[in-house]
Amino acid sequence: MFRARHLLGIEHLSPQEILAILDLADRYVDLNRRTVKQSDALAGMTQINMFFENSTRTQASFELAGKRLGADVMNMSVAQSSVKKGETLIDTAMTLNAMHPDLLVVRHGSSGAVNLLASKVNCAVLNAGDGRHEHPTQALLDALTIRRAKGRIQRLTVAICGDIAHSRVARSNLILLGKMENRIRLIAPPTLMPAGVGDFGCELFDDMRKGLEGTDVVMMLRLQRERMDGGFIPSEREYYHRYGLDAEKLSAAKPDAIVMHPGPMNRGVEIDGELADDINRSVIQEQVEMGVAVRMACMDLLARNLRADRGAKAAEVMA
Ligand code: CP
Repeated sequence: MFRARHLLGIEHLSPQEILAILDLADRYVDLNRRTVKQSDALAGMTQINMFFENSTRTQASFELAGKRLGADVMNMSVAQSSVKKGETLIDTAMTLNAMHPDLLVVRHGSSGAVNLLASKVNCAVLNAGDGRHEHPTQALLDALTIRRAKGRIQRLTVAICGDIAHSRVARSNLILLGKMENRIRLIAPPTLMPAGVGDFGCELFDDMRKGLEGTDVVMMLRLQRERMDGGFIPSEREYYHRYGLDAEKLSAAKPDAIVMHPGPMNRGVEIDGELADDINRSVIQEQVEMGVAVRMACMDLLARNLRADRGAKAAEVMA
C-alpha cells in the first residue's frame, strides 16, 4: 500500500496511502499508552535527526518514535556542527550518508532543501518541515487527531485560520484534507492569504465569524514572524481582535467543533489561553500525542520499504 522511498510531502501520497499510515498510527497510539512502549520495527537501524530550524514537538517526537521502535537515534547538533564553518547542506548530508544511516529526519528553512537532499543520499529521508513548502507528518498527525475526534476524515468542514501565507502546516493540511474530500475554508487578513490559493478549491474569508459558521474543525496558526519581511498586520492587539480565536468567535462554529493548533502557540495573539486549555473543545494535547504515533508509523513503513529494496538488490547480485 505504501511503496515510497522517502516521505517528502503530502502531495506525493494517495488517499489510500494516507489511510494506511493513519491505521498503523492508531496501533502505535495503543502501544504508546502501555507501560512498556517498545517495538523492534527499526531494530538495528540508525536514525539521524538534522534540524536546521528550531523545534520542540517535531524533534522530540521523532526522537521518541525512533527509540520506541528500537533504532539507534542521533540528534545532530547544528549549532555545534561544521555548518557553522560554512559547510553546505549537501556536504553535511553526504558526510552523514557515508556513516550509513537508514533514516534521515530533516528540518530546513528553505523550501525544497529536503527534496534536494533526498536525491543525494542512500537512505530514507523524512521531511520534518521545509520553509513554506510542506510539513507532512504535521498534516498526518492532524488528520489522525480529527479522525479520532470525529470518527472520520472525509466530508467535514474545516477552517484553517491565521498566517496561511507563511505556513507549511497550512499547505500540507490543505493538500491532505483536499485529497480526502473535505470542505476547506481559509480565514486570514488579505496580507496573510497567499496568491493563487484559490486554485486548491477552498473558500476564502477575511471575516472570521463568517468563515467559522457551521465548521466541524477550527485549525489555528501562529504568526510566523521568522518568515516575514515587512509589516503584515497593524498590531498584535488588532490582529487578536479580528482573528484571535476566543469563545465568542468559536460560537459561530458547530457546537461540537474541535479546536486545533500545531504549536508553538502564542496565547493572546492567535488564540485565547483559556480556550486553548479547554479540554471540552481543544485537542491540542491530543495532537502532540498523535505526533509520536504518526512518526512511528511513517518510519516503520519507510523501514519496511528500505529492507525490501535492499533485499531485492542483494538478490540481483546473487543471481
Ligand atoms: N508543530 C511543529 O512543527 O512544532 P515544532 O516547531 O515545535 O516542531
